[in-house]
Amino acid sequence: MKVDFEIVSGGVQPEIARMVAKIIGTKVLSVQLKEFPNGERYARLEQSVRNKNLFIFCTCATSNSYSLNDALFEAFIIADAAKRASAKEISIVLPLLPYSRQDRKARTREPITAALVLSMLKQAGVERVITVDLHSTQIQAAFSGPFENLSARKLISNKIKEYIHNYQNEDFVVIAPDAGSVKNSSKFANELEIPVIFLPKSRDEANPEIITRQAVQEDLSDKNCIIIDDMIDTGGTIISAANMLKESGAKRIIVCATHGVFSDGAASKIRDSAIDKIIVTDSVPQKDSISTLKDKIEVITIAPLLADAIRSINNGDNAVDID
Ligand code: R5P
Repeated sequence: MKVDFEIVSGGVQPEIARMVAKIIGTKVLSVQLKEFPNGERYARLEQSVRNKNLFIFCTCATSNSYSLNDALFEAFIIADAAKRASAKEISIVLPLLPYSRQDRKARTREPITAALVLSMLKQAGVERVITVDLHSTQIQAAFSGPFENLSARKLISNKIKEYIHNYQNEDFVVIAPDAGSVKNSSKFANELEIPVIFLPKSRDEANPEIITRQAVQEDLSDKNCIIIDDMIDTGGTIISAANMLKESGAKRIIVCATHGVFSDGAASKIRDSAIDKIIVTDSVPQKDSISTLKDKIEVITIAPLLADAIRSINNGDNAVDID
């Protein structure tokens, strides 16, 4: 493939950009990144990007040396540097769109921060956004330009098929752990040719970490339950679902999510829960704390998915976003 573009990366999870570049057969351009003593961030592209299409990889997640907001701010300034250095077209790769759950006014006097993030990216010079499994696809409307929302469904369902194959004489059922996950869980269930059950969830408005669930109507005795969600953050959603499923007789509980955020304390709560197995992607860096889950967790890389998308965009091929 003729490579008519350049790849650069922010400071969180640069290995993803390197893996993608390797698959494509190119290299990641270097960027000087630093933080001033007062907390301000600095970025400088170390080679020319004049008239080049540029893919900026900026994982926005809290890591050892970054807060999520620092990583996001770095995305703005790398894009601004590229625009001022006359890059031709600037695309940003944000596997997990930061603030993606703040996608609507759920209560009066709230911001819509996901929309604000997208408009700030546009203002910084970003012309295309590439994400993976957006929390809600409607938020694409807040960005006026090409938006490729890739799906990790194939990668994850291939992994689930291995489990189904290993326990081929047993029953499996897909669980949608909340209303927002019904559509996606149903697509998984269709693809895996197994039934889907919806498990309603309600969060306390003032204390969203408080989750309540109704009892499961179905008899799940001896069934393997596959919970599908877009994201594991505090673990509250999946742990409360898993407890309910176990009470209803479930045999094994396998949780699949694209984004394994595992905020502080989540890994140990999950380790001590009814969950038997977790499948996530490397859309965000895996924190040291998840080593406590090492026997339970499998991490699939999204590098080939991102490489394919960049190839298709570069070649002008058909739509790369799949929903
Ligand atoms: C909610 O609507 C999302 O799809 C996830 O279920 C949720 O964000 C997961 O967060 P937590 O792990 O904190 O429950």
